Amino acid sequence: MNPPDLPPQHCRWHPHAEAPSLFADAADSVFHLAKKFIARGGAFRVVLAGGNTPRSLYEKLRVIETDWSAWHIYYGDERCLPPGDPERNSFMADQAWLNHVAIPRPQIHPIPAERGAIDAARDYAALLREVDVFDLVLLGLGEDGHTASLFPGHDWGVGPEAPAALAVRDAPKPPSERVSLSAWRLSRARHVMFLVTGEAKRRALAAWRDGKPIPARAITPPDGVDIWFENRAAPP
Ligand code: 6PG
Repeated sequence: MNPPDLPPQHCRWHPHAEAPSLFADAADSVFHLAKKFIARGGAFRVVLAGGNTPRSLYEKLRVIETDWSAWHIYYGDERCLPPGDPERNSFMADQAWLNHVAIPRPQIHPIPAERGAIDAARDYAALLREVDVFDLVLLGLGEDGHTASLFPGHDWGVGPEAPAALAVRDAPKPPSERVSLSAWRLSRARHVMFLVTGEAKRRALAAWRDGKPIPARAITPPDGVDIWFENRAAPP
């Protein structure tokens, strides 16, 4: 499948000498965004990234001073595995953060990926109808430029006619069956923060900066995206 014509994407690049300072600054940024949105509207709606990279951020968020009762948690993607499987993104987030803070469980919305990609995508899209714009979307970046579970050569769901959540089959990163929010739904956000660490991401970052149509390039919120990256992940 050819990459679709993409809306313009405004990028703000935030280099960091090393990962610990990146995660400390990212946690501080999330703390201030939460404070702003809770003061303004009494709620903070956040979409979580999966994979390994955000784990250090989640661990740091355990200790921030905030009104946890105002937080609402969603997921950008999930792997079609049983709920307690350690490879699930929701399992990682629970272990690193959510099991340690007082966010009311009814306000934590894992993707029901155990139902299979098609049913889970349908059901999660229905749940997202009650949410307008996310306050913050957290995303990672794969070595091939994928983000959430939007992979090169797959449908990214760029246009508003696309479903809010996509069933993903034959994903190149195991497990092959996944659910992902579509690019347009991830773009309905006030803030989007990409977290990128490790040398393995250098080529993907270089392709992105060169304007190549990688999946991460399809995330186009009105106010642009912030890419927090570790220098050693940066192109030379
Ligand atoms: C997943 C993720 C995926 C991840 C990237 C980066 O479920 O695998 O949502 O998009 O963010 O693959 O993964 P790492 O952070 O582990 O490098």
